[in-house]
Amino acid sequence: MEKIFTVGERPLNGEVALSGRKNATLAILAAALVADSGQNVLSNVPQISDVRVMTEILAGLGVHARFAGKNTLIVDSTGMHSTRAPYELITKMRASFSVLGPILARFGTASVALPGGCDIGARPVDFHLKGLELMGAKIEVEHGFVEASAPNGLHGAKILFDRSSVGATTHLMAAAALAKGTTQILNAAAEPDVVTCAGFINAMGGKVRGAGTRSIEIEGVPSLRGAAFAVETDRIEAGTFAVAAAITGGDVYIRDAVEDHLAPVVLKLEEMGMFVSFDAGGMRVRTVGGRLKAVNIEASPHPGFPTDLQPIFAAALALADGTSVITETVYERRFKYVDELARMGADTKTNGNAAVIHGVERLSGAPTAGTDLRATAALVLAGLAAQGMSEISGVQYLDRGYEDFEAKLQSLGGNVWRAAQPSKEAGASSSDGGSAVPIAQKTSNIPLGS
Ligand code: EPU
Repeated sequence: MEKIFTVGERPLNGEVALSGRKNATLAILAAALVADSGQNVLSNVPQISDVRVMTEILAGLGVHARFAGKNTLIVDSTGMHSTRAPYELITKMRASFSVLGPILARFGTASVALPGGCDIGARPVDFHLKGLELMGAKIEVEHGFVEASAPNGLHGAKILFDRSSVGATTHLMAAAALAKGTTQILNAAAEPDVVTCAGFINAMGGKVRGAGTRSIEIEGVPSLRGAAFAVETDRIEAGTFAVAAAITGGDVYIRDAVEDHLAPVVLKLEEMGMFVSFDAGGMRVRTVGGRLKAVNIEASPHPGFPTDLQPIFAAALALADGTSVITETVYERRFKYVDELARMGADTKTNGNAAVIHGVERLSGAPTAGTDLRATAALVLAGLAAQGMSEISGVQYLDRGYEDFEAKLQSLGGNVWRAAQPSKEAGASSSDGGSAVPIAQKTSNIPLGS
């Protein structure tokens, strides 16, 4: 099994380009099923394993999905012939459950296995199912499958979520796009992924209004057709590289970062003592010298601080001056990384839905285990700041959501690589701070704008 190896204490400097947004792409791929004519030509689609799993699910339904170039995905769902999405693939990834509503809206019947996903707490699908029922679907759960039927099609409905859900919002928007009449989703999620997915549905001829606010209205149309659509850059990836600069005391320009999507992230980076600026091409994050400052973070739905970045900020706060408290309100358990950071010398403990982090002056390289996508990324960044070598397992999680992660970090000067075993020389370097690591680094010397 391959692992990620790092040798730390080297500032990351240079310029990095962002990939397309994972979560928006997954929502778009499910929504693409409502098009019964034409092709969807999706650009800036990240090459990550979650996208590959989703294209396999689409292929199983009879949809043609193929990459034409590294990041352009052509999805043609006109010939979709199956209404059953298999257990083996759906259980790999929660987002794939969102094929249920579009299949149902188009064919009046759908059979989709109950989902899986990263282990970060109970992740029910009750909002998804309740919404579809309000739209006229009959739902039964049998042998691990959701069996849904709506022989006369779905109809518009007024749906109130008890709490904000990105997946349920995008799922029901796509189903409602083909329903008879108008659907209103109240207490909808307002994440940029929802706005992007609504933009895609509208590009296919749908009528979605209000995405990005708490109240979304979808006027159903009789049919939708494939369209060309570009996925925006990934704000969570942007936040990850921003923290890579912060934790290593570096200076990184993140190309195509979108300022509007990153407000809470920027405010926290500034509070931690980083200098952040935007220009037309992206965001620059640089150290102003000295230790990072401790901050408190509460992860909450947009426009709050994104939960997907709390493990990553925790890694940097492990080295900050003072005590930070991270409170998680979206998931019930997203602190498994805390024990792994402790292996590297972090002084952290959890208390209910909060992690208390007393910053230390130095982390030391250690073997650690990533337990989900963002936890693994956090450990890699901690490894890049730590003294000596770290080995991080969990590459299968990392590959779910980051395109070319090590290559991008290497281009910034990060001493990071993937291998089954550390090389002999690298192993020898773990006690001396890693000066003899055999990985040739491609350090970017691109000048940074001010
Ligand atoms: N919830 C319910 N019932 C439902 C749906 C959600 O109780 O029917 C609860 C969940 O248990 C959770 C909360 O509502 O406590 C929010 O869940 P949400 O539905 O918003 O999450 P999601 O759509 O399943 C997406 C991202 C996650 C991200 C969350 C929150 C995708 C593929 N995943 O999940 O991304 O954390 O929104 O922003 O879009 C990640 O990228 O690492 C990741 C986990």
